[in-house]
Amino acid sequence: MFGNLLSYEKDGQVIHFQFAKGSGQIEVITNTIIRVFSGDETIHSQAIEGDKRQEAVCSVSHVNGSLVVRTKSLAVYISDDFKVDFYDNQNHSLCLDYRGVRHQRTVVNTEELALMEKEGHAVNSNVGIHKFEVVKAMDGDESFYGLGDKTGFLNKRHYAYEMWNTDNPSPHVDWVKALYKSIPFFITLKKNYVYGIFFDNTYKSYFDMGKESEDYFYFASDNGNLNYYFIAGDTMTDVVSGYTYLTGHMPVPQEWTLGYHQSRWSYKSETEVRALAQKIRDEHIPCDAIHMDIDYMDSFKVFTWDKSHFNKPQNMLSDLGKEGFKVVTIIDPGVKVEKGYSVYDEGLENGYFITTPEGNIYTNTVWPGEVVYPDFGKSEVLTWWSDKQKFLTDLGVRGVWDDMNEPSSFNGDLPQNLIFTDGNQKTDHARMHNVYGQLMSKATYEGLKKYDGRRPFVITRACFAGAQKYTTAWTGDNHSIWAHLQMAIPQLCNLSLSGMSFVGTDVGGFVCDTTPELLIRWVQFGCFSPLFRNHSAMDCIRQEPWSFGEEVLGIYRKYVQLRYKLIPYYYDLFFSGEKTGLPVMRPLVLQYSQDENVKNLNDEFLVGESLLIAPIVEQGAVRKLVYLPKGTWYDYWTRDSIEGGCAFVREAPIDTCPVYVKAGSILPTWPMQDYVGQKKIDTLELDVYLGNGIYHHFQDDGESFSYRDGVYNEYLCTLANQKLTVECIHNGYFLYYEWLCIHFEGKTVTIPFNQEKIEITLS
Ligand code: GLC
Repeated sequence: MFGNLLSYEKDGQVIHFQFAKGSGQIEVITNTIIRVFSGDETIHSQAIEGDKRQEAVCSVSHVNGSLVVRTKSLAVYISDDFKVDFYDNQNHSLCLDYRGVRHQRTVVNTEELALMEKEGHAVNSNVGIHKFEVVKAMDGDESFYGLGDKTGFLNKRHYAYEMWNTDNPSPHVDWVKALYKSIPFFITLKKNYVYGIFFDNTYKSYFDMGKESEDYFYFASDNGNLNYYFIAGDTMTDVVSGYTYLTGHMPVPQEWTLGYHQSRWSYKSETEVRALAQKIRDEHIPCDAIHMDIDYMDSFKVFTWDKSHFNKPQNMLSDLGKEGFKVVTIIDPGVKVEKGYSVYDEGLENGYFITTPEGNIYTNTVWPGEVVYPDFGKSEVLTWWSDKQKFLTDLGVRGVWDDMNEPSSFNGDLPQNLIFTDGNQKTDHARMHNVYGQLMSKATYEGLKKYDGRRPFVITRACFAGAQKYTTAWTGDNHSIWAHLQMAIPQLCNLSLSGMSFVGTDVGGFVCDTTPELLIRWVQFGCFSPLFRNHSAMDCIRQEPWSFGEEVLGIYRKYVQLRYKLIPYYYDLFFSGEKTGLPVMRPLVLQYSQDENVKNLNDEFLVGESLLIAPIVEQGAVRKLVYLPKGTWYDYWTRDSIEGGCAFVREAPIDTCPVYVKAGSILPTWPMQDYVGQKKIDTLELDVYLGNGIYHHFQDDGESFSYRDGVYNEYLCTLANQKLTVECIHNGYFLYYEWLCIHFEGKTVTIPFNQEKIEITLS
């Protein structure tokens, strides 16, 4: 497509190449991150903010008819046809363009496809229509991870996906190619190497990870630029850090958001919500948040309350606040068409809504009936929507749940040729579709930051790469089926590898009826997932914790309580995650990439490096085959030590979720509370698992951005040879611990603590 390579020009870290039929460039972002680009420079990135280029020495030389760009770590060969091959600095090949024959599937004739479609089958009608494709050779030992929010298993080898934010209400099974989010980033793990590729293109794109052929994998797009980043690293964690360096790190969330969230479509009245809150406290289920679905609104009009059922929302929110509950309200992008409704009138007057190519306001149908869609890519619209959040924060709303923002309608996809805006450029839906939810979340984030002041809590259903800077996410409308509990582990792990650290599924399942057993097994998993929310659809069986009687309630409570005990550990992971860009929830392959046994391990995961969770995800199962990587581990429940590097059977009756702690771990814990902040915590409690290890614990106000000005304390805990030292290495927050309480091998030691370095022998 590009033809022969004719010449090049080096402009600092950007090298421009002239080909017979086009031009392209290689940009050295860092020693290990290279951008490959050809296209329209005026299309700006929706994922990367600011200039990420770091000073790096690079050179260009001729080798055997190719040009080679060398950095300290990489050699990038550029040849005719803009073929790009990546080698490390020892000349080991990492990732080469494929030059062989393609093995495209034959396209079945359209009449046959039409017949299949008539019977209701989804058909592969788009084979071979991509504007461009980047085809990379496969050696045979690749595993693929990431790709954001995809169905199926952890390793994406042999599967193909699409990036097109899709509200798909049917069960999310393995063959579903696209869900609500598009994160065009993947990690390739080979026997001796690992790298990542981020394809920074918002148009509909395609990822075939060796499904078409064993010889290659490819990514492609319908439109936009050839624009991808090659991210090298010694380890898989380096690659994830490289990706989040580009697309942004997640800010530390407010501490209460790590608690338990109760939701259901729908809690329809103040009486119902107050009774729910009371029941939660009566049943001693720790809980921090109640989510209000669309029924709190007046006729589903965003930024309104249904006054007939919520007479004085401010009073309700304030009373709930006194009991430790924070209220999170849903907001959809669709604005009801109704003269006299201020949000509609304002938007109409100012030209804030999306139009047809002919210039008419575009309408479609969602919950309120006929709606119009804000054009979030326009900066005035973004500001307008941010300002709308004030309506919620003035009432005391503490978080916003952005939904239906693919954008979704009751009549399927919006037409691709609708007129959208990107900054000052007029563009179309095809380009802005995948970032619509992202921009909505950004507007929400900015509004909450401005009007509430605390760290914004936003949950979104749709987003694009880089959304972690503004929002958390849930995986949308899953079903109360065992297959979706099984899928939840790889799905959240891959989202986490794709930069989205604060993610969760609807615990219990959203659509259709859960069972007591499924709910228990789901809460045993869900209490370890970063975002912990029970949510369900209005027509299905109730699944609040008490819905199935005392036994289920007791087990449910046990796991919510366990989560509350571990909140400081989660908080520390988020705190350090803002610096490192590493996720909280991790597939084992992230930490043990060289261990063949974990490359396809779909039913276990890590929380940080210390906790390994092996949930039961099969109906009726009361034991589980657990694999632990090499090293010493402790069974969380029995404290037995186990040598890893092997699989074994763990008994797991209905009240047991197998959990393991790595030797040398130090877990900060909290005493039991009904909600975050209920008790004054003056003791630094550490649960210590003998071995060698280092741990950083953080303490701050848990809600403001002052930690960014140094208003926090950091404690360094070091464990070696049965000696634990604890010292405050950053001293910036006025509230200090007065006691240190160490739990180890069934013993407990409590001593006064004045932040001075302290050494304790654990025997
Ligand atoms: C969508 C959301 C779901 C919500 C429902 C009603 O289906 O994904 O979580 O309950 O809309 O607002």
